Amino acid sequence: MTVLEVLQSTTGYFQKHNIDNPRLNAEHLLAHVLGRKRIELYLDFERALRESELAPLRQLVKRRAAGEPLQHLLGTVEFCGRIFVCDKRALVPRPETEQLVELLISKFKCEIAHSRIVDVGTGSGVIALSVAAEFPEAEIVAVDISEDVLALARENAERLGLVDRVRFLRSNLLANVQPGLDVIVANLPYVSTEARQNLSREVLHDPEAALFAGPRGDELVRELIAHAPSYLRPGGILALEIGIGQSEALMSALAEKNYRDICTENDYSGVTRFLFARYG
Ligand SMILES: C[S@@+](CC[C@H](N)C(=O)[O-])C[C@H]1O[C@@H](n2cnc3c(N)ncnc32)[C@H](O)[C@@H]1O
Repeated sequence: MTVLEVLQSTTGYFQKHNIDNPRLNAEHLLAHVLGRKRIELYLDFERALRESELAPLRQLVKRRAAGEPLQHLLGTVEFCGRIFVCDKRALVPRPETEQLVELLISKFKCEIAHSRIVDVGTGSGVIALSVAAEFPEAEIVAVDISEDVLALARENAERLGLVDRVRFLRSNLLANVQPGLDVIVANLPYVSTEARQNLSREVLHDPEAALFAGPRGDELVRELIAHAPSYLRPGGILALEIGIGQSEALMSALAEKNYRDICTENDYSGVTRFLFARYG
């Protein structure tokens, strides 16, 4: 079979198994097996594939059709222009979270370049490491409750040459963090346990501790909102990614705790997804 024929048959197979973006998935997996860039496949459509190339592809295609996330099969994900290792230890980083990083940078670039920034619930480290790369003078702490997750984040720091720039700390929210922070940024678990049945097969491959916060979904974000004032320096920034439908109640929680300059931003699909506020 040629490259083009394999792409066509894999795309058809994925369509039958209700995989979103079937052609894109087929291209990513074939490029991965061949050790080529996806775009390079287009220059090689007529090349005949060897059995030694088809056999590993078949395994990956089967696993993808059964709902394993593409990023787990590739072992990496691109986030804010950098490649991160990605496996079942941590949440697969989402495009919305890239937007959180972009908003943080665009809104506060001038004032956070030399600041103390904490990423709470760092997962694979995408937020902390992207911010560290953007602000070479900033002091960054990446916090997670899971040691396994922190090991993955450290691995990513090493690969990106940022290991001296970020301190990794096991902590329940901010419990082990030194106060006097300029920025707290967090993409904490925000799915309600009741919403479990609505999640896709792919999402259910993410760790439970990365998805669910409790029956409401916003429990951990609320806890962070309640405790962050003791850790922020006057005028410090809280930047949050939140779940669908959570913004109004969380804005009230921020107002009740006397945060100021509270504002929301939508993600690219028009969902109110980000909250920003200052304290003191
Ligand atoms: C939604 S994932 C986000 C991962 C990463 N920041 C990202 O955006 O891809 C949430 C992370 O919060 C961590 N977490 C859950 N509860 C926590 C807690 N109480 N304190 C600190 N981290 C927590 C989980 O282990 C998980 O890595």
